Amino acid sequence: MTDAKRTATLNIEGKELELPIYSPSAGPDVLDITKLYAQGKVFTYDPGFTSTASCDSTITFIDGGEGKLQYRGYSIEDLAEKSHYLEVCYLLLYGDLPSKEQQTEFEDRITGHTLLHDQMQHLFRGFRRDAHPMSIMCGVVGALSAFYHDSTDITDINQRELASIRMIAKIPTIAAHAYKYSIGQPFVCPRNDLDYASNFLRMCFAVPTEKYEVNPVLAKAMDRIFTLHADHEQNASTSTVRLAGSSGANPFACIAAGIACLWGPAHGGANEAALQMLHEIGTVDRIPEFVARAKDKNDPFRLMGFGHRVYKNFDPRAKVMKESADEVLELLGIEDNETLKVAKELERIALEDEYFIEKKLYPNVDFYSGIILSAMGFPTSMFTPVFALSRTVGWISQWKEMITDPKLKIGRPRQLYTGAVDRVYTDVENRLPTEKYLKFNGGS
Ligand code: SDX
Repeated sequence: MTDAKRTATLNIEGKELELPIYSPSAGPDVLDITKLYAQGKVFTYDPGFTSTASCDSTITFIDGGEGKLQYRGYSIEDLAEKSHYLEVCYLLLYGDLPSKEQQTEFEDRITGHTLLHDQMQHLFRGFRRDAHPMSIMCGVVGALSAFYHDSTDITDINQRELASIRMIAKIPTIAAHAYKYSIGQPFVCPRNDLDYASNFLRMCFAVPTEKYEVNPVLAKAMDRIFTLHADHEQNASTSTVRLAGSSGANPFACIAAGIACLWGPAHGGANEAALQMLHEIGTVDRIPEFVARAKDKNDPFRLMGFGHRVYKNFDPRAKVMKESADEVLELLGIEDNETLKVAKELERIALEDEYFIEKKLYPNVDFYSGIILSAMGFPTSMFTPVFALSRTVGWISQWKEMITDPKLKIGRPRQLYTGAVDRVYTDVENRLPTEKYLKFNGGS
């Protein structure tokens, strides 16, 4: 971030304020309003943070107009094609691509931390079998701080590093155990002779009674899905991790908060909702009915997997994901996959429709991912856990950047208050029923 050379003049009822303007290495300039309230006694108002930069960062850059996504300056297309997930983890964590030796040392370190404390298995067993795997991931990740006290002191660089390694190493084991628990199969331990994606697939799909060979093409597709979801600037769940971390909460608690936020259907939960929507549409001839519903202001239905706060052009991850979907389905011999046919036709129709063009709605990362994950054998309930697994390195990298930022302050937004003020208290005998009280039908 360059020092402010330019300023913007804000005139508030005759009082002029000079607000610094900073120029980034890429993307829009920012207006520094940190002194606005102190000098101008006004807040800015930006529900949903549509025009607000919450921090400066060197990790991920998105150009929504160009459909560009870069991790530490490397394009997502290059990384998806030429790199692999643990190398991308190193890049996001430390800022540069590793040398061969650094890569080996880092990957060995991750491999050495994939097991969970044996006592943690009882945590899983406390859930109902039909618990959504995301509820289990929220709970178990939050509980990591109860087992790994020696990596919760955020003021100690070594503990921060150990927590980062443990989080990235253990999240596949936690996600796989959540899946196994939900289908009543025994947990499968990680193996140190397998790469990260193969290990995860084996922990999900191997059973003790049979030999399990990981299909290398599926492992590559899995690894690419991890890379495509690894980080994405200041999205809702990353902002949640940053806000939780700004209070000094331990890293495991912060990641658990990020998982909880990601679960929502407007965010990471959209991959599960998108596949359910494609299944509900069922056949190509029913697409117009659903497109009409998505355009109907009176219908809350939205095309899940479409639209994005930042991308007002294609989501580059969706393009790579679509190519992967073709590859994986062809490999698996699932040629006439009706769901993929519906997805492609829905994309074609939507992209030609005036409503979607005018509102700049394109398929996002969640539109095709479910088709691949489903073809690989995952139930829809495991789609968002896979997203959470992939994004853990992004959350950890952003958390580390925030914790070491000399400008770190606890995040504490203000508000535009529109409620009552200065009301006089009356005794209950003198009060009338409040019209806002909600009478629950049949409830007490
Ligand atoms: C992710 O932020 C990130 O980077 C997130 C993410 C990441 O990697 O971390 O990229 C991952 O969360 C991807 C998005 C997954 N969510 C979905 O696919 C759910 C469906 N899409 C949306 O609900 C919506 O598009 C959002 C939440 C993604 C973005 O919402 P915005 O930016 O707040 O936009 P909006 O809701 O104000 O919509 C703008 C207009 C509205 O119409 P008007 O009120 O202006 O008339 O577009 C319409 C919306 O009704 N619209 C849609 C739509 N998405 C927006 N209409 C139909 N179908 C949709 N999917």
